[in-house]
Amino acid sequence: MPDPLDPPHEIRTFPSAHIGRRALLYESLPSTNDLAARLAADPEHHGTVVVAGHQTAGRGQYGRVWHSRPGDSVLMSVALSPPAVFRRPVVLTAWAAVAIGDAVRFLTGVQTRIKWPNDLLVRGKKVCGILTETAVSGSSFRSVVGIGLNLNQPADDFVAAGLPDATSLALVARTRFEPGAVLEAVVGQLDAKYARVVGGELVPLEADWKWGIGLLGRPVAVELAGDSTVTGRLRNIAFDGIEVNTDAGEVRVLPPESVRHITPLAGSNG
Ligand code: BTN
Repeated sequence: MPDPLDPPHEIRTFPSAHIGRRALLYESLPSTNDLAARLAADPEHHGTVVVAGHQTAGRGQYGRVWHSRPGDSVLMSVALSPPAVFRRPVVLTAWAAVAIGDAVRFLTGVQTRIKWPNDLLVRGKKVCGILTETAVSGSSFRSVVGIGLNLNQPADDFVAAGLPDATSLALVARTRFEPGAVLEAVVGQLDAKYARVVGGELVPLEADWKWGIGLLGRPVAVELAGDSTVTGRLRNIAFDGIEVNTDAGEVRVLPPESVRHITPLAGSNG
C-alpha cells in the first residue's frame, strides 16, 4: 500500500462543505478503503475522498473480492470522523445509498432501488456496492464508506465474471460515462445529504432510505445474523428497528445491524 503521504497522481477539490473538499486520485491502489482508513485515523482528513482507477485488492461485503477493470467504475472511499448522528453503520450506508441513488437518477434519468443492506439496483440488477467500515477506540469513532459504482462494463463482462445480476450505468443509459463527471455528481450528492443530516434532518434521510428500499407492506424474509429468518409482512423499516407482521400476528422490532438480508417473497411486486 502506498504511504498516505505518497503523492496521488491528481488532487481535486470540490466546492463542498464537508465531503470532497479534497479528493486524492490514484491510478491504482490495493483498496481505496484501506488508504481512507489510514487517513481517517486523523480527524484532519474528515471528508477526504480517495479514488482509484483500479484496485488490486478491492473488497466487498463479507470479505468478498471486488473486481474492476481500469476506467470501468468509480472506485472511491470517504474518510469520516463524523458527529454522533452518523455513528452507526446503518445510517452511514443509508446516507451513501440515498446520495448515490440521486446521483444515478441525475446522470441517467433512471430510478434506483436500495437492496438491503448495501446494494443499489437498477431494474433489478446491481449497479453499485457500498462497504461501510467503522473503528471505535475510546470516545473516537472513525469510519470509511467505500463505493464501487459500475460505469462502462458491457453485459458480456458481467456474464464472464459470473455476475449475471450486475449492470452498469452504460447498459442502463446506452452511453459511456466519464468517471470524473460521475465522481463530481456522486461527491455533490454525498456532500448535500451529509450537510442535511448534520443540520438536523435525519428523518428526511430515513424517509428517502425507506422509500428507496421499497418493500413496505410486502411479504418478506428477514434474514438475521446467526442464520435465523423472520418471515412475514414488512410493517416498517427505520433506523431504530424493523417491524414484521408474522403469521402468528406478532410484531417484532429487529435492530437493523442484526439484519443481513431482506428478501421479497413470491406474491410481492418488489
Ligand atoms: C459490496 O457490494 O460487497 C460492497 C462493494 C464495495 C466496493 C468498493 S470499491 C471502492 C472501495 N474499496 C474497496 O476495497 N471496496 C469498496
